[in-house]
Amino acid sequence: MAFIVKKKIHGKEYFYLNKTERAEKKVVSKCLAYLGKTEKEANKKAKEILKGMEEKNEMGSEADTKKVDLVFKDISIEELGIFCKRRGFVYPSGEIYGGLAGFWDFGSLGAELKNNIKKAWWDFHVRQRRDIAGIDGAIITHPKVWEASGHIESFSDLFVVCKKCKKPGKIDKNELGKARCECGGEYEEKTAKEFKLMFETNVGESGKAYLRPETAQLIFANFKFVYENQRMKLPFGIAQAGKAFRNEIAPRDFLFRSREFEQMEIEYFIKKGENCPYEIPDAELLIYSAEAQEKNEEPIKMNIKNALKRGLIKLDWHAYWLATEFLWFVNLGADSGKFRIRQHKKDELAHYSQDCWDLEYRFPFGWKELEGIADRGDYDLRRHEEFSKKDLKIFDEESKEKIRPFVVAEPSLGVERAFLVFMFDSYFYDNKRENIVLRLNPRLSPIKAAIFPIVKQPKFEKIAEDIFKELSKEWNVLYDSSGSIGRRYARNDEVGTPYCITIDGDSLKNRDVTIRERDTTKQIRVKITELRNIVRKLIDGEIEFEKAGKLVK
Ligand code: GAP
Repeated sequence: MAFIVKKKIHGKEYFYLNKTERAEKKVVSKCLAYLGKTEKEANKKAKEILKGMEEKNEMGSEADTKKVDLVFKDISIEELGIFCKRRGFVYPSGEIYGGLAGFWDFGSLGAELKNNIKKAWWDFHVRQRRDIAGIDGAIITHPKVWEASGHIESFSDLFVVCKKCKKPGKIDKNELGKARCECGGEYEEKTAKEFKLMFETNVGESGKAYLRPETAQLIFANFKFVYENQRMKLPFGIAQAGKAFRNEIAPRDFLFRSREFEQMEIEYFIKKGENCPYEIPDAELLIYSAEAQEKNEEPIKMNIKNALKRGLIKLDWHAYWLATEFLWFVNLGADSGKFRIRQHKKDELAHYSQDCWDLEYRFPFGWKELEGIADRGDYDLRRHEEFSKKDLKIFDEESKEKIRPFVVAEPSLGVERAFLVFMFDSYFYDNKRENIVLRLNPRLSPIKAAIFPIVKQPKFEKIAEDIFKELSKEWNVLYDSSGSIGRRYARNDEVGTPYCITIDGDSLKNRDVTIRERDTTKQIRVKITELRNIVRKLIDGEIEFEKAGKLVK
């Protein structure tokens, strides 16, 4: 399928004709042509190109020509926030009382999308790997955990006020005198004060405790148990996904920086100096080394394998995790052109960290951290040994000695930041349909299928209800019998429902239904008895839509 993509480069808009293709069970996007700088010019040029290709039979069916009306929309974070509220994805928390800055409630569709992101992450990083085990730790834990980790002493930001616009802001301690406010103004240094980021609470009579500011420390505190119970062998990882709380000085940019959010984290343990035994996946993206940043140079586009060979990335483990995490996003539909990896400069590194890379994404408000991949050495296990007086070392068969494993990589991703990426990259508008088409990967879509009796009559409704019962055993599906079929399609396109199933007159005779695909609007007919199986294969990308049933002309 072909569609128009709008890209903003250095503030200017450029239009391209892209095409999606299925290759080895994955949907990949390819650029076919540059279309110019305005939407009108792009639409015209795209139609000409596709017509020419159709005549030469390079594009396939006529339906492709129609799809040039599907245009990617580059929306702002504010526009996304408004859309999310209007369509029931996210609401400001406690909005009927005026809302509370930095807290968000997820509506029915947002809760489904967030759960689908977490499930996709857990399946890929935990269930499908033999070297990673998952846990689910407590939100409030023994305060000593936070003493050992160093959070009580130093998990803080500097509260600053801009000299020009007078707005409060937060900066890292090492940024004083360097960082500038969004308005370009300098921060007042005299009034800068330390601001602790952990939320405090009380537990019974026993005193002060904290809401966890990250999930990672629960992994270290449970390290020895998981290692023994799951009979892990180095190298191995422990993963956790769940809530984290930070009393951010300046929560902003919708879900990007909130005070209550979720993390998906892995601590990956190795024997010190051990090389990565896994093949590094092929991944080409912008690479921004610390050296390039210090020299004010631009990032360079390169395959991560080459960056490792050329010494830009020092550790094979970092190359492996950066490529793996980038591809996780891309394979779930994120735009590969909006990612880069950035190495932390020396003054950004924690004292125990030798090297740290961030996977960054080009948000409408600039390049920002999506996921950190830090090297934490043996800092955390060593500190927990010191504070708990427990031996957290493990026996190494090779050297016949007890060793303390090193964390070579800590892939740490915020669920809400992933949520924003998938929403931004699937936000399209169809000029012909005149509605938004949220092109979410079906695995992430909040509603997997919408079921429509063609009109409100018992003979159609009975079949639709039976189909609803059958499909809802496996997925979140929707029964919708109100309004015209066109309106029902539009409502579902806007919230990313990949398949709409209609029960019509022919269904009564032939015991079959139509399935309509969101992105192409093509329709196929399939037998009701095969429906659940076919929908499963479509969601999992195991079958092409046109081959899944009889194409309706
Ligand atoms: N255990 C390491 C750790 O917590 P971090 O860089 O502070 O590292 C990891 O956080 C990730 O958590 C970030 O890359 C981001 O995706 C997410 N995150 C951090 N603070 C956040 C906030 N206030 N709101 C939303 N997501 C946040």
